[in-house]
Amino acid sequence: MCGIVGYCGPKAASQVLIEGLKRLEYRGYDSAGVCILKDSGFKVIRRTGKIRNLQEALGDGEAGNCGIGHTRWATHGEVTEENAHPHTDGNSEFAIVHNGIIENYQMLKDDLEHKGRVFRSSTDSEVIAHLLAEHYRDSLEQALRDIIPLLKGTYGIAAVTSREPGKIIGARNGSPLVIGIGEGEMFLASDVTAVLAYTKQVVYLNDGEMVCITSDEYRTCDVHDRIIKKQVELVEWELEAIEKQGFKSFMEKEIYEQVDSVQRACQGRINPEAATGHLGGLNMLPGELREIERIRVIAAGTSYHAGMIGCYLLEKVARIPSFAELSSEVRYKNPVIEPHSLYFAVSQSGETADTLYAMRELQRKGAKVLGLCNVIGSTIARESDGGVYLHSGPEIAVASTKAFTSQLTIFYILTLLFARMKHYSLEDGLKFIEALESVPGHLQTILDRAHQVEALAKKYAGFKDFLFLGRGINYPVALEGALKLKEISYIHAEGYSAAEIKHGPIALINEQTPSLFIVPDDHLRDKIISNMKEVKARRGKLIALAVEGDYGVADIADDTLFVPRAHELIYPFLMVVPLQLFAYYCALELGCNVDQPRNLAKSVTVE
Ligand code: G6P
Repeated sequence: MCGIVGYCGPKAASQVLIEGLKRLEYRGYDSAGVCILKDSGFKVIRRTGKIRNLQEALGDGEAGNCGIGHTRWATHGEVTEENAHPHTDGNSEFAIVHNGIIENYQMLKDDLEHKGRVFRSSTDSEVIAHLLAEHYRDSLEQALRDIIPLLKGTYGIAAVTSREPGKIIGARNGSPLVIGIGEGEMFLASDVTAVLAYTKQVVYLNDGEMVCITSDEYRTCDVHDRIIKKQVELVEWELEAIEKQGFKSFMEKEIYEQVDSVQRACQGRINPEAATGHLGGLNMLPGELREIERIRVIAAGTSYHAGMIGCYLLEKVARIPSFAELSSEVRYKNPVIEPHSLYFAVSQSGETADTLYAMRELQRKGAKVLGLCNVIGSTIARESDGGVYLHSGPEIAVASTKAFTSQLTIFYILTLLFARMKHYSLEDGLKFIEALESVPGHLQTILDRAHQVEALAKKYAGFKDFLFLGRGINYPVALEGALKLKEISYIHAEGYSAAEIKHGPIALINEQTPSLFIVPDDHLRDKIISNMKEVKARRGKLIALAVEGDYGVADIADDTLFVPRAHELIYPFLMVVPLQLFAYYCALELGCNVDQPRNLAKSVTVE
């Protein structure tokens, strides 16, 4: 989604902004621009496409030590230079960058046009620049404060005026903004990655808060100009974590990082003596946890698939009725909050609007919602009633990989914790821990054989349609495998329960539609083999993801990839990684940009 970066300090603002915008590239965007304040007036440069285009247009850089920049992901208006941010009032006096959506922009625009204002873009954002011009007396901060009550919708705004050079004003409602505190320099950004190269000291703004930054100070207040004292936080991430470190792409790096990230998600969270889990962030006493009678997960995309697996486990192993729902659906269904329910909002970014708004709706109705996020200090992490961080390090590639396996890890620990409070014996707990702790080693074995997946992808990348089929705990893995393929290779893929194909999808089977079956050696293996035979009988091509030595499966399939034999509960980890690799290699084969797939954004902050 859109990204904001602002800078005040001694450096050339254009270079700092370009550097920051490049760090935001991963979030997904289609055009970018900067506004550099000079002694007299300001200069706005915008380009569609890559940040490279903007950088070339800037040449050696514009002189000026203060400015704002933006990467845009189109919502209102096509991808054109006119629609790219920053937007101005037309007189080169006021410039703004905006994330979010101004829902009442048309009404505001009509009104402003009646007053003679000429609009140059078809965005909702441009109204903010014109409103500032209309309301400005002698303070940009006051002008922004005055127009905020007029804006309906969501925003993270950074605004500048040529009348007050060296100053940036920001306001937040529903779209993140963070202040970066350097030595003799200040930053304003929508994401800490944009400022990490310069400072690790940050202040997160909350909704309803505003900020004014100059090179040597920042001032935070609410919309009534009441000063708000904010806590300075230290970002734990190292700069290397947001660099490729020799890998061809972030996605490749993040797939390989899973050996470590799963381990990190476990660190300090398993108590071998008591054979149970320890998740301090839940903020719940054992007595409260014991009273939980049902669990609900709300999430979107890949996080939803992790939530489905989590719920399967919690129900099957911990015997707690559990159910995962798409957050976008929960918000508008007027949900009933059942007593003794516990909700989890699962989100890598912690900013996904669908999940955030659903969480707020549930909280409004009295639900206790815990967050399961990766990004520290993100809105869901801060607004939830407790929660657990994934600690997977920054995930930069749009298609989520390592966050998924870390989310699974937390659900496994949660399951262990609940199961041990109920019927699980010490011995059961120890076996469960042993299984979970074997995951990193198995993942390493799978990654060591990545070339086999690459060869398979080369063979199949030319097909236009795929079915991904699994059952039980691996049914959501099939959904995730299909999602990964769609996201980065643009090959049409459907994920289904293998049992369900006879109720419709089997009509799609022909020689041109390969079916990829996930076949662990669990209680459903023989049932899945029957499903494979149904496909084979209709001349469908069969790819199997099976367990080492299972030649019964390999004999039926056209091609088989093996994963190590393991405890049946941990197969989702072992099955998903080859599917991530399969999507990755198919995308490479087809020449796609794996890190920034078309039309997608890493963090979707609009509904
Ligand atoms: C976007 C991303 C997906 C991600 C989903 C949920 O659509 O492209 O990769 O799974 O959002 O994101 P979250 O940050 O809430 O996990």
